[in-house]
Amino acid sequence: MTDKQKQYELLYKQLLALAEGESDEVALMANAAALLHDAFHFWWTGFYRVVGEELVLGPFQGPVACTRIPFGRGVCGTAWKMRQTIIVPDVEQFPGHIACSSASRSEIVVPLFRDDRVVAVLDIDSEHLATFDETDRVGLEKLAGILGDSK
Ligand code: SME
Repeated sequence: MTDKQKQYELLYKQLLALAEGESDEVALMANAAALLHDAFHFWWTGFYRVVGEELVLGPFQGPVACTRIPFGRGVCGTAWKMRQTIIVPDVEQFPGHIACSSASRSEIVVPLFRDDRVVAVLDIDSEHLATFDETDRVGLEKLAGILGDSK
């Protein structure tokens, strides 16, 4: 097991423990963003919640970000539309990428499901190219399963 896999395993246990004592989704998203941001020192770590036809900014750690993203727009809106995790090694190569910060170079977006509907996305940005790989996808999807329904 790699160090990164071990880190995700520890984060999973920590978030599971936090979720046992708390059912409020915003409170859990807030602590999940803090856990991830603290463990990996990403540029931006946070959530957008599905509110009607848009994603609306939720709990996050990092610099100020765009507040609303339409369905199908940017990496976040595309992950919502496609109902799957998207890894972007170079944001400049992703058509329609929404640049909340020019420092962001690569990104991963993981949808959260409840009753088979996407209810939010977890968005993580890095100031380095190609930061995210399969280990991140697997680890983050497992964490997302604590916050929504596991898929
Ligand atoms: N880059 C994202 C927008 C959100 S910010 O990165 C925090 C996107 O294209 O959906």
